[in-house]
Amino acid sequence: MLIPIIILIATLLVLVVVYVLDDALRLMNERAGLPYGSGMRWSKRVVWAVLVLVVLQFVVPHDLFEPPPPQLATYGPDSLWTGADTARLIHLDEEQRDLVRYGRELIANTSAYLGPKGTVRQRTNGMNCQNCHLDAGTRPWGNNYGAVWSTYPKFRERSGATESVVKRINDCFERSLNGTALDSNSREMRALVAYMEWLGTGINTGTKPKGSGLAELAFLDRPADPVKGEAIYTAKCESCHQKNGEGVFSTDGNTYQYPPLWGEHSYNIGAGLYRLSRFAGYVKNNMPQGVTWESPQLSDEEAWDVAAYVNSRQRPVLDLSKDWPNVAGKPVDHPFGPFIDSLPETQHKFGPFGPIAEIKAAAKKKKT
Ligand code: HEC
Ligand code: HEC
Repeated sequence: MLIPIIILIATLLVLVVVYVLDDALRLMNERAGLPYGSGMRWSKRVVWAVLVLVVLQFVVPHDLFEPPPPQLATYGPDSLWTGADTARLIHLDEEQRDLVRYGRELIANTSAYLGPKGTVRQRTNGMNCQNCHLDAGTRPWGNNYGAVWSTYPKFRERSGATESVVKRINDCFERSLNGTALDSNSREMRALVAYMEWLGTGINTGTKPKGSGLAELAFLDRPADPVKGEAIYTAKCESCHQKNGEGVFSTDGNTYQYPPLWGEHSYNIGAGLYRLSRFAGYVKNNMPQGVTWESPQLSDEEAWDVAAYVNSRQRPVLDLSKDWPNVAGKPVDHPFGPFIDSLPETQHKFGPFGPIAEIKAAAKKKKT
């Protein structure tokens, strides 16, 4: 503020000097009987122009020509969310910016830092968050993080408690990455949280932008069929994820070129993808690799059937005895009892899920 004021005073002084000088010269010329012409008209104009500019910069808002600050980004429920604009990172202070960048890096290359041969800690099964949260968690219906910052902390039935973003991230460490939780004060966790916060830029609290998370597919009116699913797997998945479902390591041996779908290095039975609806919703819009929500290849039926096949294979177990403390809160496709209905366990695993949803809805109505 000081420098513009000095410039303002200096300009005013110059203006006065120019006028005084001009008058003096005119007077001297008149006395000497010489013509004076237009005098210092141009000098005056230049000084006035400078003065106007100096005054303008006090009046015009400073950010007029800068991109709007991050919180002005608008994602309504109707605009498709495709991630936060990296250009906006310049609005963060340097420390926060570094954290956000490190967070993104950890999502994309989790295994290099935290995998079995990780450089920071050895905590996980070797998968990357990005294997399931595509494009570092920014792809529409690619299990992205568009609704994380705007909806957490929130109550979740699985734990029966209000969960913070830290707790939710650690859930994926313990289940999807079949590993152990990160300390909430670690630089890694702070970076992941900073990244989630940055992705949530401009999304109002409580809002889920269009395209966030996973698509919800309509229920089939028959059980999903692992036998049909196996045929789809052989035709459309096996070339990358392999016949034994264990994927392919990349040549550096520290991450997957094609991540595992089952076997000891895959997600465990407590993971979100172990629920058929989550798996089918993910695969429908994102697999085989290369498809998008705009150009899916599998029908809904094929997505449900291949989910039934993959989730019937062997994978790591997890003690789930503390999950879903409120039995009525279990999602329709949670495959382990007890249940509030008397339908068989296989129906909770493969469907049809419609009747279970109806019973749940009726029980909820009765309670309220
Ligand atoms: C094997 C697949 C898989 C991997 C790997 C994985 N996740 Fe997830 N994640 C999921 C699924 C499935 C969900 C639940 C989506 C739903 O219910 O709609 C989820 C949910 C989340 C959520 C909550 C999203 C929301 O909108 O509520 C966060 C945050 C998250 N994961 C973070 C991570 C982080 C960080 C990593 C890596 C350390 C990771 N995940 C690795 C599959 C995975
Ligand atoms: C052309 C190779 C290719 C084909 C074919 C393919 N995938 Fe994938 N799949 C990938 C890659 C690569 C990833 C990880 C994506 C990333 O990291 O960006 C992946 C990730 C996944 C994931 C989440 C990560 C995990 O390992 O749990 C699932 C589930 C999955 N694919 C299922 C399928 C199914 C089902 C099919 C067949 C319908 C299929 N994929 C076909 C390459 C392929």
